[in-house]
Amino acid sequence: MNAIVAEGLSKIYRSGSVEVHALKDVSFTVPTGQLVALKGRSGSGKTTLLNLVGGLDSPESGTVRVIGQEVTALGDDDLLRMRRETLGFVFQSFGLIPVLSAAENVEVSLRLTRTARRERAERVRVLLSLVGLADHADQRPYELSGGQQQRVAIARALANRPQLLIADEPTGQLDSETAGSIMRLIGAVVRSEGVTALVATHDPQLLSLADRVLELHDGALTPEH
Ligand SMILES: Nc1ncnc2c1ncn2[C@@H]1O[C@H](COP(=O)(O)OP(=O)(O)O)[C@@H](O)[C@H]1O
Ligand SMILES: [Mg+2]
Repeated sequence: MNAIVAEGLSKIYRSGSVEVHALKDVSFTVPTGQLVALKGRSGSGKTTLLNLVGGLDSPESGTVRVIGQEVTALGDDDLLRMRRETLGFVFQSFGLIPVLSAAENVEVSLRLTRTARRERAERVRVLLSLVGLADHADQRPYELSGGQQQRVAIARALANRPQLLIADEPTGQLDSETAGSIMRLIGAVVRSEGVTALVATHDPQLLSLADRVLELHDGALTPEH
C-alpha cells in the first residue's frame, strides 16, 4: 500500500509576465510506513511539492493521491477534513500559538476534531511525554527553547493520529545538536506510531535516518540510484 502516489505534478507560479516553473512533471510513490527525505537546494521546489501533497495548493497538472484519496480532486470541506484528520504538519518556524501553553497548543488540534475533554487531556499527556516534555506542559512557547518548541509542534502534529506527517525543514532554525535530537524523534515516531513521513531537509542527520531520499533539482526529481 502506498501512502503517497504523485503522477506528473507540475506547478507554475505567475507574477505579471514572469513564470516560474516550480515543479516539472514530478512523479514518485511513498510506501506506507516509510520515512522519506526530500532534499534539494533552496528554490528547487521542496515547499511547493509538500504544499501539493498536503492539499495547501493545487498543481497546474498532474495528480496526487494520499492514503487512497485524490487530493487534487477534493473540494474545500473534504480537504479541510483530510488536513485535520489524516495529515500532520510541522514547519521550520514551529507555528505555535504564543498565548497558549505547550499542552494547550497540542490540545487545539484535538478540539478541532471535537475530541471529548477527558480524552483530550489524556492524549495531550501521552503526546508530551512521547516528545520528552512531560514536565513542561504549562510553559508558553517563549519559555521554551527552539528545540522544545519544535517538540511541541511535533506533538501537535501527531495529536489526531495522522497517517502522513509532512515536515518542511523542521530543523532549519535549530543548532546541529538540537537538530539531531529532533530528527531522531521524527525517526522514532515514524517507527512507534506507524506513521509515514515526508520531510524536506538538508540535514545530513535526517538523510542518514531516512528509508529513502528524493532529490529535487530546479523543480525536477533527480533519478534515484
Ligand atoms: N508564491 C510564489 N509565487 C511565485 N513564485 C514562487 C512562490 N513560491 C515559490 N516560488 C518560486 O518557486 C520556486 C520553488 O520554490 P520553493 O518550493 O519554495 O523551493 P524550496 O522550498 O526548495 O526552497 C522558487 O523559484 C521560488 O522562488
Ligand atoms: Mg522551502
